[in-house]
Amino acid sequence: MNIVLLGAPGAGKGTQASKLAAEYGFIHISTGDIFRANIKGGTEIGKVAKSYIDAGKLVPDEVTCDIVKNRLAEKDIASGYMLDGFPRNLFQARELDKFARIDVCLNIDVPKELLMDRICGRRVCACGESYHVSTLNGATTCAKCGGKLYRRDDDNPETVAARLDTYEKQTAPLIDYYKAQGKLLTVHGGKGSPDGVFAEIKAKLDKLIAK
Ligand code: AP5
Ligand code: MG
Repeated sequence: MNIVLLGAPGAGKGTQASKLAAEYGFIHISTGDIFRANIKGGTEIGKVAKSYIDAGKLVPDEVTCDIVKNRLAEKDIASGYMLDGFPRNLFQARELDKFARIDVCLNIDVPKELLMDRICGRRVCACGESYHVSTLNGATTCAKCGGKLYRRDDDNPETVAARLDTYEKQTAPLIDYYKAQGKLLTVHGGKGSPDGVFAEIKAKLDKLIAK
């Protein structure tokens, strides 16, 4: 099964992708993670991406689409994958439809007022795990791998406000795009714990898989 994970910044795309990968073995492809790895590695792509990410804007489509197209040409995706953070506008969604077959768009719906706190309180690990300060009890290392937790550079209130604005204007229209294709599956990401949200996702996905 090939899934597009849709949701505002802080909706829980990365959190749920990690659980989905553990449960179903889907490959997790996050364009944000790919850009951050390129920034860390000082590559040309990283240099281009950094200014956009710091400003809470989208990295240009031609850069982003090429990255995803190349990643989806690799063999390991044959048993199913999740695209986390791609597509992020209508152009990217239409491009994706030219080189991939998407089965489901999993839309994690979270009330806007929860997002700022979730992101500004987030601490991440280089292994991909993410946490929130409210549940860390002062821990500064990753429960999964022991790595040191840190705050993402774009997780400051100013950049987050710009990211939320970009989401509303450019990404939210994709909800209707996938609805029109009959592929939209919406879950409530603001009500329960990450495990509670995952239970809703699993119930809905298992129903689809059984069909
Ligand atoms: P990206 O890395 O994709 O960031 P984002 O979309 O802003 O989303 P986040 O990673 O911030 O949130 P998330 O939904 O993964 O939430 P998480 O699970 O961590 O993109 C970064 C930048 O890269 C973009 O701004 C753009 O510049 C660029 N970019 C990326 N893709 C691009 C593209 N396709 N085109 C152009 N540019 C692109 O959870 C958040 C917090 O909430 C955590 O602390 C977590 O512990 C907590 N939490 C999660 N679930 C729950 C719950 N149920 N209850 C309570 N707390 C919860
Ligand atoms: Mg994420």
